[in-house]
Amino acid sequence: MELKNLTRQICPPLLWRFAGALKRRVVKSGGVAVRTAVVATGPRVTHCGPRSELRGQVDMRSTKSSIFVGSDCLIEGTLVTEKEGSIIRIGNNVFIGGGTLLDCASSIEIEDDVLISYGGIIADSDNHSISYSRRRGDLARWKAGAYDWSQAPMKPILIRRGAWLGARVIVLKGVTIGEGSVVGAGSVVTRDVAPYTLVAGNPARLIREIPLNDR
Ligand SMILES: CC(C)(COP(=O)(O)OP(=O)(O)OC[C@H]1O[C@@H](n2cnc3c(N)ncnc32)[C@H](O)[C@@H]1OP(=O)(O)O)[C@@H](O)C(=O)NCCC(=O)NCCS
Repeated sequence: MELKNLTRQICPPLLWRFAGALKRRVVKSGGVAVRTAVVATGPRVTHCGPRSELRGQVDMRSTKSSIFVGSDCLIEGTLVTEKEGSIIRIGNNVFIGGGTLLDCASSIEIEDDVLISYGGIIADSDNHSISYSRRRGDLARWKAGAYDWSQAPMKPILIRRGAWLGARVIVLKGVTIGEGSVVGAGSVVTRDVAPYTLVAGNPARLIREIPLNDR
């Protein structure tokens, strides 16, 4: 099996580092720079399925967090796990556009065939307390590497199979987006979205149900 295909299928940490090194190898041929080996680009995740491409940044801030990516995905956005136990699960055939951030303190699960456009934010935590006195020390604790996540409200996010989120959509903590639903561009989703509905706005509200012949 070609190295390119091998790295695409298993992408464990060491292999990705090796792949990165190979990608940087460039030779001059007749005055023209030529890559000696081109392999799938992508940073480290816990598991990456076959034919998936990770083109965005991955920032796992705890070695005890995890990111699972299924097969046939294209991830151009940024994946962040904040702390021990944070878990991002992405199914098969999922697209996440450039500039979209998945910021996971608790759990973000995205099922198969979901399309998420560019410039969005999916954040399962408020990161800070509503209370000024409790969040006043947040920055100092963050800089000291001793952040107190117990003060940050957080709830898992679930995006069900076949949903489509338009550009610059924000999804907040605790939201479940129903199967086959559509979220309009620029929406802020604060409440669950029923299956096969179209929602939009800030906060996102029901616009209409998606008719049976469009499902
Ligand atoms: C503002 C915020 C802290 C309030 O959290 P909360 O007290 O749990 O608020 P609730 O989820 O109970 O929402 C209360 C109402 O305000 C609305 N609402 C909450 N946040 C909203 C937002 N960002 N935009 C529009 N409406 C919002 C909700 O729809 C709800 O209205 P409803 O009862 O009519 O449905 C939270 O919603 C938020 O925006 N968190 C920031 C997330 C973030 O940026 N994380 C990264 C930080 S570094």
